[in-house]
Amino acid sequence: MAEYKRTLITTALPYANGPIHIGHLAGVYVPADIYARYLRLKGEEVVLIGGSDEHGVPITLKAKNEGVTPQDIVDKYHGIIKESFKKFGISFDVYSRTSSKIHHDTASEFFKKLYDTGKFIEKTSEQYYDEENKQFLADRYITGTCPKCGFDGAYGDQCESCGSSLSPTELINPKSMISGNVPVLKETKHWYLPLAQYEDWLREWILEGHKEWKVNVYGQCKSWIDSGLQSRAVTRDLNWGVPVPIDEAKGKVLYVWFDAPIGYISATKELTPEWEKYWKDPETRMLHFIGKDNIVFHCIIFPSMLKAEGSFILPENVPANEFLNLEGDKISTSRNWAVWLHEYLEEFPGKEDVLKYVLTANAPETKDNDFTWSDFQARNNNELVAVLGNYVNRTLVLTQKYFGGVVPALGELTDSDKEVLAKISDIKEEVEKSLDNFRFRESLKYAMDLARLGNKYLADEEPWKVIKSDEERVKTVMNICLQITANLTIILEPFLPFSMEKLRSFLNFEKKGWDALGNTSLIAAGHKVNKPELLFEKIEDKVIEAQIQKLFDTKNANDLVETKASPAKENINFDDFGKIDIRVGTIIEAEKVAKTKKLLKLKIDTGIDQRTVVSGIAEYYQPEVLIGRQVSILVNLEPKKLRGIESQGMILCAENADGSLSIVAPDQKADNGSEVK
Ligand code: MF3
Ligand code: ZN
Repeated sequence: MAEYKRTLITTALPYANGPIHIGHLAGVYVPADIYARYLRLKGEEVVLIGGSDEHGVPITLKAKNEGVTPQDIVDKYHGIIKESFKKFGISFDVYSRTSSKIHHDTASEFFKKLYDTGKFIEKTSEQYYDEENKQFLADRYITGTCPKCGFDGAYGDQCESCGSSLSPTELINPKSMISGNVPVLKETKHWYLPLAQYEDWLREWILEGHKEWKVNVYGQCKSWIDSGLQSRAVTRDLNWGVPVPIDEAKGKVLYVWFDAPIGYISATKELTPEWEKYWKDPETRMLHFIGKDNIVFHCIIFPSMLKAEGSFILPENVPANEFLNLEGDKISTSRNWAVWLHEYLEEFPGKEDVLKYVLTANAPETKDNDFTWSDFQARNNNELVAVLGNYVNRTLVLTQKYFGGVVPALGELTDSDKEVLAKISDIKEEVEKSLDNFRFRESLKYAMDLARLGNKYLADEEPWKVIKSDEERVKTVMNICLQITANLTIILEPFLPFSMEKLRSFLNFEKKGWDALGNTSLIAAGHKVNKPELLFEKIEDKVIEAQIQKLFDTKNANDLVETKASPAKENINFDDFGKIDIRVGTIIEAEKVAKTKKLLKLKIDTGIDQRTVVSGIAEYYQPEVLIGRQVSILVNLEPKKLRGIESQGMILCAENADGSLSIVAPDQKADNGSEVK
């Protein structure tokens, strides 16, 4: 886009059912904040929009599990999220929420306009209904057996065991998660956005008009459009959300992905009565910062909604990021596998910029990336402390030492001085080019190159040696070092705002605009600088080890949960126990039962007799290896016919949490027929 007057930056609204973690930060909020700060520094008109996404089924499920209302859940997490963003320094102009009145009104009006102008199609279909609770069941509220892999706990939308996406009617033995009952199919009416009608327009607008979008974003759009777009229901049978504003839709709400992006508009309204200039003036440039799982909603569905509405602008770019993993594992709120922002802020006070730095230096811009605590420590110690902090500190200390803190004047320039000064001037263009293309890790690297340049210059010039013979020369060197430092306060401002504020206070220096970057006489001779403190401090091994230990504890706790034993059964008396007759026996024959997966037919010498037992261990033991093995066998269990074979007793096995079986046998050879008691 050639010319624009202002920029509207939106950030994906995080679900208010958990706190913010480093994955959210790296993917969305840190890059959006850098970009907003950069534009502000350039003096451009910009607003950074955020807010909590407070609707959707997972929030209602969490509320139900915890025995509280959905409003309680979102109040709690909206509070935590908003507070942690503020402390961390994400510079939102507004941080709103979708349970607010202004949002309900805005989303409701938006729907009504589309409805009134005939933009929806209405369809009646059969969906599962819980008769006891008199409600339709969202896909997530139904469990059953996966038709693809046989897993018992599959959800109506997806099987988490084999990963297949499902529709609720495909589940075998579906059950309502609310009542546990078998749901019935019942007709219900919903409103759909017929995306197929927007296909040609989307093709033109994105595939022809926005070839400059990031390859990951463009590629996803292309594959969605090429595979044909289906109509999407924008309403749901649920009692938590924005009520559908038409009479015949009583008890229905807007689908969360319909109302949430409208939250960007509501938040802008909350910010300013002049919100329309951000949303309706074609000279506004709108950018959506999101993670890759949100691409279809922000590039296909929301733009189609905006297009259907007719009076709004469309996004100019959608710089979506890939995912950040943690220590090699996918970040997961439900498994507590994350570094939580609110905890980080408590445990690393004053180190907001360190986390921003690490998440940017290792941002998942073009592929998934991994956050590790050892990389966090290394980047702090080797880059922030050793390069940036060290350079700034040496410059300020030497200025104090040799010139009482007064910026010395520039004298005659050597070739190497000229070279350094030329690099200061050049860096602006380089860093701008990457910032303008949303390549934040590259731009941070260029910015840090300025500190690297300074370090090298100091090491080459060795003012601490030259001072003994040539004070005039040292004046020039220190002047240049101070110019570099002053330029650092500008170039690093979008990335490390807290630290640059500190650095400006060391320099006794006003905040300068972006345009001043590259100026080689930024700080005037005769200006007095303050005594410096340390800008960054080393992070010790034990701090990192404690964080790694914390993650380990989480992993162990998760493993414990996964293998959690069932509670003990009710007590029995000794007589009850005495009725059970378990003997040691030896397997003398074993074969598979034809046409079954699980069953083996065993012949066992029990010491009393030789008898046949049918046992469900075929998935865990090959028949051949069993012959000659001793087992424990319950001999006084009443016989039962399985697949036409009479089974006389039962082999005892330990059953693991995953259902796998392990034969329980004497740990040394025992006589057949000996009693187990
Ligand atoms: N809450 C969604 C998520 O975390 C993002 C919503 S973005 C918005 O994936 F556009 F809908 F607001
Ligand atoms: Zn499955």
